[in-house]
This record gives sequence, C-alpha cells and structure tokens, in this order.
Amino acid sequence: MKREPYSVRELSVRTLSDFETLAIKQGGCWCIFYQRANPLRRGTTSGEWKRRNRSDKRALVRRGRSHAVLVYEGRTPIGWCQYGGREELPRIDARRTYRKVAPAVGVKKLWRITCFFVDPKYRGRGVAKFALRAALDSIRNKGGGVVEAYPVASPKMAAVPEWRWFGTPGMFRKEGFRTVAPLGTSGVLMRKTIAPRRAKKP
Ligand SMILES: CC(C)(COP(=O)(O)OP(=O)(O)OC[C@H]1O[C@@H](n2cnc3c(N)ncnc32)[C@H](O)[C@@H]1OP(=O)(O)O)[C@@H](O)C(=O)NCCC(=O)NCCS
Repeated sequence: MKREPYSVRELSVRTLSDFETLAIKQGGCWCIFYQRANPLRRGTTSGEWKRRNRSDKRALVRRGRSHAVLVYEGRTPIGWCQYGGREELPRIDARRTYRKVAPAVGVKKLWRITCFFVDPKYRGRGVAKFALRAALDSIRNKGGGVVEAYPVASPKMAAVPEWRWFGTPGMFRKEGFRTVAPLGTSGVLMRKTIAPRRAKKP
C-alpha cells in the first residue's frame, strides 16, 4: 500500500502552537478575517491588528469555534486548510456578490472552506490538495452537508501566491465540486454535497 507523505491533525488547543509556528510565517492575518462578522475599527495599526488577530484566534480555538486541518511532514507543520460552518465564518455573507448569487441550502448544514496556507518551502507539492481532502473528510465525520468554496478564477490573481488563499477551481473540481456562479470578476462560487459518514456495522 502506498504510504501518504503527509499526515493531518485538527486545529485544537493541543495543536495551537503548531498553527502559530506556521501563522507567524504567513504574516499576521491568522486566518481570522472570515471569522469576524465585522472588521476591526478603522485606524487600527498594523501592530494592533496582528496582536488582536492572534489573541482572538487563540480565544476562538479554546472555545472550539475555529476549525482547520493542519498538515505535517513528520512532526513539522507545513500547511493548513480552514473550514467551518456558516456561523463560524460569517464574513462571507457580507460580500454583496455572494448574497446575490448564492442559492439557499434548505435544511442542510452549510460549510465553508475559506483559507489555505502552505509554508513557502513546501509549495507546489500537493500540500494544499492534501489539506483539502482531509478537511472534506472532517466535514463528513461531522455530519456532512453542503460545502462551498470561493476559489480565485482570475488568472492574474491566481499567478500571485498570496492571492490564492481561497485555492484554485481545479483543486475543487478534482474533489467533485461544481461551479455555481461567478463571484464578481475575481472568484467563483463552487459547491459539493457531502453525505455523513455511515456508522460501521457492529
Ligand atoms: C495557495 C497555496 C495554499 C497552494 O499551496 P500548494 O501546496 O503549493 O498547492 P498544491 O501544490 O496543492 O496545488 C494546489 C493548486 O495550486 C496551484 N499552484 C501551486 N503552485 C502554483 C504556482 N506557483 N503558480 C500557480 N498555481 C500554483 C496548483 O496548480 C494547484 O491548482 P490546480 O489543481 O488547479 O492545478 C500556497 O501557494 C499558499 O500558501 N499561498 C499563500 C496563501 C496565503 O497567504 N494564505 C493565508 C491567507 S490568511
């Protein structure tokens, strides 16, 4: 049997320090943007912004309100994929283009995949794709539902690693996502329905 080159763990109080090791390499966003219903007040300095992002992220993780899979090579954390229910990632709803085109999902739970990050040293080796598959597996384990993503569709933006945090349409197509509608000129709304994992027969 082929051995996977990477392993995954869920973001939790236990893995928070691994997440932080990587988040420092990312810059200061701490992937919290979509977790806030409203932005921080105008005039927040860059230093304050980073500190608030870090402390708010820690608080969310401690309260079990922040989900992501972390990817490891051996014991080294090398990337993540953030996912969560709609209520955990409310900022997406603030986007007018999204509200205009996103069909209602009825009684099904709505999940979102908002941010990928891979250590620059490990990019271009399928880490983000691996993280996506693991995140979808976590969603299946948590009962499934409709999963949506917002990959960057503009080739100009897709050419810049920092603008690819939403992932690419190809990554999601490979996992069976379908395009629902364009999101302005830069992105596209994609969805896939995931059935819950069936319990094993005793
Ligand atoms: C976007 C990112 C996660 C991709 O990670 P990765 O492990 O290199 O990606 P993978 O090797 O799994 O490939 C995933 C997709 O990215 C594309 N990709 C990877 N490297 C690329 C490059 N240099 N140029 C263009 N596309 C590239 C792949 O072609 C693939 O898309 P496809 O399936 O449509 O062909 C990574 O570039 C990154 O971390 N960028 C910074 C994002 C960021 O700042 N996130 C934090 C936001 S808070």
